[in-house]
Amino acid sequence: MAYETLIVEIEDYVALIRLNRPDALNALNSTLLSELSEALKAADADNSVRCIIITGSEKAFAAGADIKEMSEKSFVDMFMSDFFAAESDAIVRTRKPIIAAVSGYALGGGCELAMACDFIIASETAKFGQPEINLGVVAGIGGTQRLTRFVGKSKSMDMHLTGRFMDAAEAERSGLVSRVVPVKDLLTEARKAAAKIAEKSGLTTMAVKEAVNRSYETTLREGILFERRLFHALFATEDQKEGMAAFLEKRQPQFRDR
Ligand code: CAA
Repeated sequence: MAYETLIVEIEDYVALIRLNRPDALNALNSTLLSELSEALKAADADNSVRCIIITGSEKAFAAGADIKEMSEKSFVDMFMSDFFAAESDAIVRTRKPIIAAVSGYALGGGCELAMACDFIIASETAKFGQPEINLGVVAGIGGTQRLTRFVGKSKSMDMHLTGRFMDAAEAERSGLVSRVVPVKDLLTEARKAAAKIAEKSGLTTMAVKEAVNRSYETTLREGILFERRLFHALFATEDQKEGMAAFLEKRQPQFRDR
């Protein structure tokens, strides 16, 4: 499917979704967000996709929600349309793993989009920030909640209150990103990670995602019980039999998502 604001390529079980509004540093307008929701839904339903990468350009992953589009809206406009709710749900509802490959600016909604993915690989030039305070608003796609869980209250307050940016090294130190790579290697590294994930059972990667995400939603005791029951349930799958047999027979497993 052709999109106005995205370029989507599917190859070797990996869907690469590139945000493509270069003139606006990939600012997230309603077209881009609804196309992204569609593209994620399509990738989730596509048996030839086992992992998704969302990326931007070298200069910007995304410089935030589109300020031009929002500037004249009223409270009633925002509230009645529940602005960002459907799009933000679409990302979170995606069951296949999503890697954010971030270079340059990931600000406001851009930082929030990256954080809504399952993990972030950043280039050395990545800059993360929640500068909504400078616009007289707060974050609107989960920034105050996710950043606080990822980097702790002190850094989150610092970033939300001062609007300062965090560079890639600080983001890695703080646990916001999983790895930092040179700009020229960003997509190669993201593709390598996605290829590793795509080798696994798609059924099991979805289970991992559900279990890790559960840790943000529940108590430790309930989360551990959820994990243990998932672990038990996976013994009903062919992929568990295949994975363990392959180990014992010293060969590569052939997973079939069953
Ligand atoms: N919305 C709309 N347009 C944007 C944009 C945004 N968030 N960010 C950049 N652009 C546009 C600029 O208006 C400019 O367009 P024109 O050439 O038509 O003027 C173009 O992208 C290039 O931007 P700059 O000239 O500003 O580029 P720069 O290199 O000098 O600065 C920057 C880069 C520091 C990222 C700067 O563009 C900037 O501060 N952008 C806004 C960042 C921001 O405040 N993000 C939060 C948005 S609100 C939000 O996201 C709410 C939420 O949580 C959901």
